[in-house]
Amino acid sequence: MCGIVGYIGSKEAYPILINGLKRLEYRGYDSAGIALLNGDINLYKTKGKVADLEAYVVGKNIKGTIGIGHTRWATHGEPNDVNAHPHFSESKNLAVIHNGIIENYDVIKEKLKNDGVHFRSNTDTEVLIQLIEYIYKHENVDLIKAIQLALGQVIGAYSIVILSKDNPNTIIAARKGSPLVVGIGKDEYFLASDASPIVEHTRDVVYINDEEIAIIRKGEELVLKTIKNQKKTPFIEKLEMDLNALEKEGYDHFMLKEIFEQPRSIRDSIRGRVNLKKDTITMSGIIDFEERFLNARRIIFTAAGTSWHAALVGEYIIEELVKIPVEVEYASEFRYRNPIIDDKDILIAISQSGETADTLAAMRLAKEKGALVYSICNVVGSTIARTSHAGSYTHAGPEIGVASTKAFTSQVTVIFLIALMLAQKKGKISNEKLRKLIIELEKIPSVVEEILQLNDQIKELARIFTYARNFLYLGRGYNFPVALEGALKLKEISYIHAEGYPAAEMKHGPIALIDKKMPVVVIAVDSLIYEKIVSNIQEIKARKGKVIAVVTKGDKTAAALADYVLEIPPTEEILSPLVSVIPLQLLSYHIAVMRDCEIDQPRNLAKSVTVE
Ligand code: M6R
Repeated sequence: MCGIVGYIGSKEAYPILINGLKRLEYRGYDSAGIALLNGDINLYKTKGKVADLEAYVVGKNIKGTIGIGHTRWATHGEPNDVNAHPHFSESKNLAVIHNGIIENYDVIKEKLKNDGVHFRSNTDTEVLIQLIEYIYKHENVDLIKAIQLALGQVIGAYSIVILSKDNPNTIIAARKGSPLVVGIGKDEYFLASDASPIVEHTRDVVYINDEEIAIIRKGEELVLKTIKNQKKTPFIEKLEMDLNALEKEGYDHFMLKEIFEQPRSIRDSIRGRVNLKKDTITMSGIIDFEERFLNARRIIFTAAGTSWHAALVGEYIIEELVKIPVEVEYASEFRYRNPIIDDKDILIAISQSGETADTLAAMRLAKEKGALVYSICNVVGSTIARTSHAGSYTHAGPEIGVASTKAFTSQVTVIFLIALMLAQKKGKISNEKLRKLIIELEKIPSVVEEILQLNDQIKELARIFTYARNFLYLGRGYNFPVALEGALKLKEISYIHAEGYPAAEMKHGPIALIDKKMPVVVIAVDSLIYEKIVSNIQEIKARKGKVIAVVTKGDKTAAALADYVLEIPPTEEILSPLVSVIPLQLLSYHIAVMRDCEIDQPRNLAKSVTVE
């Protein structure tokens, strides 16, 4: 969480930093701040969003060609002006921005306080910069050495960028566990938590690795060292990112844009991977590890949030097509429970951002235990992608709305392709069936286009339920995870309590909640267990619940029972999550808009959860 940006060059830094912070605001929006080095370090910060910071700096001295900026998702210390970043050292000669958590900050703070250091904020970040200054002053070392020594003492995760009044042409940055990218321009450098603020300035980037320090001096080559002072050679990569993808392009919110992008994003997830002439699927990440995949005893998916829901769909798909046992684990649980996993297992980590701390930790644990670790990520070059042995990108394009939408459908698409490829290689699927499923998959983008036409109808439906206090979402089989996803979408952006359940589990408890005020969204598309879902709808109606049913076009039975009906075109059942989720995304979007909620930046959340 938290977005960090930096600039050093000959241009005015402020506009670059502010625009960069706007691009990174999805990472946190509790407070924002900048520091500009221009003789002194001028530091401005305020509670609130980047727009509040812009208003705050009006009339102030924002000159300077070196600077850093931060947008915060609060961990230590409440979100207020004082706890906002950047943080000064006591002398105000150093300023730092930080993304991550310093876990042993209290011990260090106590020691520094006993040695007479005064603190201004309640943050772990201030402890780090005070420690650096303390070492710099008392151990007679240069600033880089002081930073190295300080980082050697801290436990936790960080990416930091430091300005120093004594080193006026330098920015120093370091990372461990939180992402950091350096953009290399002509006589200028950019720093950021991800490439989105950099891409409009340069396409040449270096991803800083864990425990590395970047020393960036005006007019000089980038220097990379480890915390232990070993020199490293920067590996320059070319960014491939469409700038338009970072704009709303006429939509009111990124979330709506991203929902509407799904025909394209699903197509991009399929593109180049399917050969209908030869009836083959090629996922290049699998090829090098084909034997291990084919002989795997088990596949374990690990993920968080929406990506975890995609993993759950994956369990159903892979067991059905590939016949390998699959388990799905919350990364946050997996990492702390000494799981039984070894070199016969494959762990597949799913993550849109590729930076989720728990998912990354689960991967590292699985790697240590000898498992093959595969990733399914959206963000190219992200830490999860780079930590895995191999992986597949989803190619959904940047997802900026905090509520994940197109990432889910791309993840499911990629899992489906992996399953088809493995099923074919293991001889578990006939060529006819494979061909049929590929043809059906390729139709999905047009089906999604058709479903998006329901937007106005869904908007009207949303009006009816704007003030509901609770919602239930029910689904079965492939659409049980979709029920979970529908509920997550509603609660995170509209703040309405919602629960997703396997429809048949309702009678084991949640049915007690149903009365005439309870809206129940039921995914009742064509499936082998359609009749069972119809019975579940009857159970709800018998208790006067309000049923909103997502049904297959032409449906008579479920539609006749439901109070409100959303009809979607028919698809193969195994592919139905890719389409049944679309009306649920739109429903939560419109309800949240009508409740005047912050759609793209819901309260308390951040897009990329880089703390545990
Ligand atoms: O970037 P990731 O896919 O690893 O993120 C996982 C979750 O944090 C994420 O899906 C979150 O639940 C979204 N806000 C859901 O819309």
